Amino acid sequence: MALAPKSSVAKNVLNLAASIEGIEFKYQEMPMGGNALDLTGVPLPEETLLAATQSDAVLLGAIGGYKWDKNEKHLKPETGLLKLREGLKVFANLRPAVVLPQLVDASTLKREVAEGVDLMVIRELTGGIYFGQPRGFGTNENGEEIGFNTEVYAAYEVDRIARVAFETARKRQGKLCSVDKANVLEASMFWRKRILAIALEYPDVELSHMYVDNAAMQLVRNPKQFDTIVTNNIFGDILSDEASMITGSIGMLPSASLGESGPGLFEPIHGSAPDIAGQDKANPLATILSAAMLLKYGLGEENAAKRIEAAVLDTLNRGFRTVDIYSSGTKLVGMQRNGRRSIEVS
Ligand SMILES: NC(=O)c1ccc[n+]([C@@H]2O[C@H](COP(=O)([O-])OP(=O)(O)OC[C@H]3O[C@@H](n4cnc5c(N)ncnc54)[C@H](O)[C@@H]3O)[C@@H](O)[C@H]2O)c1
Repeated sequence: MALAPKSSVAKNVLNLAASIEGIEFKYQEMPMGGNALDLTGVPLPEETLLAATQSDAVLLGAIGGYKWDKNEKHLKPETGLLKLREGLKVFANLRPAVVLPQLVDASTLKREVAEGVDLMVIRELTGGIYFGQPRGFGTNENGEEIGFNTEVYAAYEVDRIARVAFETARKRQGKLCSVDKANVLEASMFWRKRILAIALEYPDVELSHMYVDNAAMQLVRNPKQFDTIVTNNIFGDILSDEASMITGSIGMLPSASLGESGPGLFEPIHGSAPDIAGQDKANPLATILSAAMLLKYGLGEENAAKRIEAAVLDTLNRGFRTVDIYSSGTKLVGMQRNGRRSIEVS
């Protein structure tokens, strides 16, 4: 298992759950993002990618920070992350958004809207506009400067994410909503055509389609209408962050990125939260829950995963909250203490 340094709270939780279940992990901690830039001059050293591809699973801490914001594109931490996802060929990003009963009041939505939300956003991760060619800067026919990108999907890319989505929906409530912009974009019209073709393999799953602007609205109007959502890279990036706010905080949301074979990549959906860095304010639960997803989806260790999930619920039941999910009557703690609580009760 390759790990970015700083994921020590998640590592401690993993170790404890594993030792109770009789599992032994071998860790390799590799630099990535900003610390890799500082140490080696590149955001994803070859050794890190090699260690990641040779692992059974990869747990990643968040990358990024003001220090590297002005770097040239190929020297930005984010470029390393895109290369890691590409190198691991993890094309399916699973992002659950669950409103836990203990945190209904942390949601920005009214209790009756937020209560009971349990949805999964499946984002295509290695295609679309983030990778499409041509891209770049240039000049148009009037000699004006332009910037451009290309939204492009091949049939195999849509087909394989569609199958992951239908399989996932089948294990949940059996409802899949495909989000696109097929009223305007050819790439979305093609996306919809392939989703409909793959749907023939899954007659038991109820399929619907929604335009992304409507989906953004429906997510805050009535999020309970959704069970499983599948969408392209850029729409998934935006909608999963929006879904995170329904749950109360981006600091609660884990993610799993899976390929056809090889190690999965497990990471919180939030970034490095530079505005609160070094203040012991960050919520560690998204990373801890990412470790649970690693056990469940990456290593098939369901029991150990359940232990971690139960420990998180228990920590919340006992009233411990970091500032992002704090409400009156609960106990405000820092990241280290909240992480320790999850370890103590797992
Ligand atoms: N996958 C990743 O590693 C990833 C994802 C998004 C952004 N980034 C990078 O992170 C840096 C900051 O980006 P951003 O500000 O857009 O996004 P961000 O997710 O870091 O922060 C957005 C807001 O959410 C808060 N937040 C994030 N995580 C939190 C946590 N665990 N607990 C409590 N509050 C939390 C932050 O304080 C901030 O107010 C940038 O360099 C960006 O490129 C990395």
